Amino acid sequence: MSRAPHVAVIYYSRNGTVHALARAAAAGAGAGGAHVRLLRVEGDQRPGGAKDDLRRVPVATHEDLRWADGVVLGTPTYFGNIASPLKQFIDSTSDLWREGALADRVVTGITSSNSPHGGRESTLLALYQSMYHWGALIMSAGHTDGAFTVTGANPYGVSAPSDPDGTVGDAHLRAAQALGLRLSRGAARMAGPGHPGSGHLGPSHPRAAAGRDAPPSGRPSRIAVICHPCERGTWTLASAIAEGARKAGAEVRLLPVGPPQHGGGSRQATPDDVEWADAFAFGAPALIGTVSPVLLQFLEACEPLRESGKLDGKAATGFVTTPHPHSGSESALLALYNAMHHWGVVIVPPGYTDPSVTTAGGNPYGISHTAARGALPSRETLDAATFQGGRLARTTTRLRGLTHQGPVALHGPMRSRAAR
Ligand SMILES: Cc1cc2nc3c(=O)[nH]c(=O)nc-3n(C[C@H](O)[C@H](O)[C@H](O)COP(=O)(O)O)c2cc1C
Repeated sequence: MSRAPHVAVIYYSRNGTVHALARAAAAGAGAGGAHVRLLRVEGDQRPGGAKDDLRRVPVATHEDLRWADGVVLGTPTYFGNIASPLKQFIDSTSDLWREGALADRVVTGITSSNSPHGGRESTLLALYQSMYHWGALIMSAGHTDGAFTVTGANPYGVSAPSDPDGTVGDAHLRAAQALGLRLSRGAARMAGPGHPGSGHLGPSHPRAAAGRDAPPSGRPSRIAVICHPCERGTWTLASAIAEGARKAGAEVRLLPVGPPQHGGGSRQATPDDVEWADAFAFGAPALIGTVSPVLLQFLEACEPLRESGKLDGKAATGFVTTPHPHSGSESALLALYNAMHHWGVVIVPPGYTDPSVTTAGGNPYGISHTAARGALPSRETLDAATFQGGRLARTTTRLRGLTHQGPVALHGPMRSRAAR
């Protein structure tokens, strides 16, 4: 890495709660060695107390997004969703998105709400839905730090009780700090030569052709492509993803789970393969809006790995097959990624980071094949799957070795009152 990572903490806050959390996240990122910009988006802001401090924070611009390797996005929970000022800022980035200038930002989220179960999880998940479209790398909290556990163990990011005066308890400030630090470590991996846009280099991209994505010295990245191949199309998709990862220089294990049906071969995947891998691509038929129970059972069998922290910092992507175009092609992938947030891995969606994704139907969450269009995936879908496998391998090569490295100290001035 040739320079310190750049982290932008961008948030909306009306009363000051998210502002306090954002400041703590910025301090955590700074403790991780990042250059940090603390930035707000414009919107209704209440005067008084901590909120006057809020209004002195500079307003985020598109240039800040170009500059950043990592982005912490903060929003109050409004009706279980992102507050409109932050959403407006995200929506204003379509030109950057079109240029591919948002791809590969490592992102995470923070929120606050009145009710403990009033939408803190759904807001963070809604935030990431836009980020998949950016082609960002989602680095949520997971269960990777005790600071997250004591504040309610929300794996999707940091969430806190709102306060009319914008004061936040130590425990939540510490959690926000830990998230900022975690994000800065991910951003550090992506900073340096090749960024921005390094991992999003499709085979057709000139920088990829120039070899800037070549694997580093040392062992190749290890990718496990694990799927429930109860249909031929799923296995064919898995094979294309494996091929893309191999072509990008990775060592690949392509393995089935569940009873042998359409494809597979030598042996079944085991949790040992997940432990061995630096990254995984999980695939399955979609069933009632989630991935098949056979794949879910396999993920459950990996619980001891998650509990022992062995999955923290690995990378993951997903792919699905569906009977009809809209019978789970998106929702099943989002459900799979819910599990990945709990694992503390970095989610590497295809986004729109290569033209092949758009040609194959434009699913930014993962490549999908619909049986209604034929038993086997089209050439276009297979090309996109090959790209997805290559992108996972290239991104993994940059992220590799990213694990939790211990707690951060809470700085005195941030203390405000006991955690609720
Ligand atoms: C329009 C609106 C919608 C809200 N929706 C929710 C909600 O769905 N669940 C909840 O618990 N609190 C809800 N709240 C309370 C906010 O989440 C709370 O005021 C906010 O987190 C405070 O953040 P801030 O101090 O940074 O402005 C809502 C508040 C407003 C103004």
